[in-house]
Amino acid sequence: MSYQVLARKWRPQNFPQLVGQQHVLQGLVHSLEQQRLHHAYLFTGSRGVGKTTVARILAKCLNCETGVTANPCGQCQACLEITAGRFLDLIEIDAASRTKVEDTREILDNVQYAPTRGRYKIYLIDEVHMLSGHSFNALLKTLEEPPPHVKFLLATTDPQKLPVTVLSRCLQYHLKNIDAADIAKQMGYILEQEKINSEPSALTLLSRAANGSMRDGLSLLDQAIAFGQGQVTEAATRGMLGSTEHQDVFAIIDALAAEDAQGLLAAAQTLNEKGADFADVMSALSRLLNQMALTQVIANPYTQEFSSEKVQELAKKFTAQHIQLLYQISIIAKRDLPLAPDARTGFEMALLRFLAFVPGGLQATAPVQVPTPVKTVPAPVARTAAPKPTPVSAPQIQTQPAAELNPIAPKVMMELTPENWRQVLDQLGLNGVTKQLAQHCILTSYQSNTITLAVDAQHAHLVNDRLKQTLTTALQNYVGQPIKLALSAAQQAVHTPAQAVKQERNEQQRQAESAIENDLFVHAMQNQLGAQVEANSIKPLSEEK
Ligand SMILES: Nc1ncnc2c1ncn2[C@@H]1O[C@H](COP(=O)(O)OP(=O)(O)OP(=O)(O)O)[C@@H](O)[C@H]1O
Ligand SMILES: [Mg+2]
Ligand SMILES: [Zn+2]
Repeated sequence: MSYQVLARKWRPQNFPQLVGQQHVLQGLVHSLEQQRLHHAYLFTGSRGVGKTTVARILAKCLNCETGVTANPCGQCQACLEITAGRFLDLIEIDAASRTKVEDTREILDNVQYAPTRGRYKIYLIDEVHMLSGHSFNALLKTLEEPPPHVKFLLATTDPQKLPVTVLSRCLQYHLKNIDAADIAKQMGYILEQEKINSEPSALTLLSRAANGSMRDGLSLLDQAIAFGQGQVTEAATRGMLGSTEHQDVFAIIDALAAEDAQGLLAAAQTLNEKGADFADVMSALSRLLNQMALTQVIANPYTQEFSSEKVQELAKKFTAQHIQLLYQISIIAKRDLPLAPDARTGFEMALLRFLAFVPGGLQATAPVQVPTPVKTVPAPVARTAAPKPTPVSAPQIQTQPAAELNPIAPKVMMELTPENWRQVLDQLGLNGVTKQLAQHCILTSYQSNTITLAVDAQHAHLVNDRLKQTLTTALQNYVGQPIKLALSAAQQAVHTPAQAVKQERNEQQRQAESAIENDLFVHAMQNQLGAQVEANSIKPLSEEK
């Protein structure tokens, strides 16, 4: 007996056998039960998700000898012939091979004749987007008002290519890609019926490789059975799919946890020697990171591609934010892999990029000199390559912090002169309003025990006897002899310590902003991760403390 491929052998013959697509079935079943039938249906969706299958089942529903039903009997002549593909009133047209307008005319010429034996004459036009423009026009008229005994079932992977005129005349049902878990389940069911042994992990691998298509999944399953000589094992499946061994991806994540650049490069080397597909490895990394993230929030993640003990062990070594960041980098790295000079280079750079960005959480272990302005991604900070990170020094902002900002500045007694006023001020031990007042003053002279201060005009209102007395005492203590304090409002603009501080702050801020603007790491974050700098979160280092 010849081998029939699984996809054909296991084509669902009724709605309950269909996997997924519940949303489509609901609508169809309802209209069948209500006997409210449309004359043209359009099934869309990607390859191998059940479009043709649903259309054929619908043909049975419409022609089953038990009456129009959502549950065709499968036993009557009509049902049996439809299953066998020889029912005269189900006219299947592969538009891909009959695109010409003559073909369409020929088909449509027969529309007027009553069905040979069925209730309805059904035209199933597959890959309908392939019809030529003329063919569409020829079809349109009939589609608009077909004879009552005619139903059109159209199917396409590419509804965008259909003229709106066609779209608008059809009741459209979109079939979704099928979940890997559902595909794996269906594979398990089929193998059980076929009495073929299998390892669940192998089915997980196959179902993932199917990419949402049941047909592709079942074709891969056929191959895996052949490859594994009659059984489906993980090892054979892995070999067949050419997929990465888990050890390699684990090694990479381990090296990342240890911030071990050598280890990462060694892993890339090993993979290269094995002839691994770097894009596949990058995907495997993304999936492992996904598993790690899931493990941090739920006890039993639903997919089990990787050993759960190992995943748990790895998940403990990273913060949730860090995993998110690594994941993001991994999927973008995969996207950009074709742009790299060669796959290995792209892969290596991606591994080093993983290390170059460490979320704010690790800041404590690696002091950085770059202000940390990016708050949109979990505040990652730039960092040199491991293993032993040294602080990045490039965008360091040189600031001359005011003495007040520097708690360990030694006390140096200075002569009280107009030039030294600002420094002396910091050593007077003032606080509160008195300090503020003093900062808005300049020293105009210190002669014969009289200290003359001028308050800038805007702050002259602060002056009162009590403040004046506190200030006098402080100055007396400083110079070590009794003094007289003359305090008056300045008649013209004066450059007070307060203004000097303000100017310096503005300058530091400007420098910090330009450091961020020119920072390569920040650029990389913006380009690679779509990070945005929150302008008002930029602060000079002196203010971070
Ligand atoms: N939803 C599903 N449930 C169960 N099996 C399915 C499903 N979809 C597809 N299959 C399997 O895949 C095979 C092909 O399905 P079908 O021909 O309906 O796909 P299609 O969507 O028409 O694909 P194409 O766009 O390539 O024509 C079926 O014979 C069946 O074995
Ligand atoms: Mg099809
Ligand atoms: Zn029947």
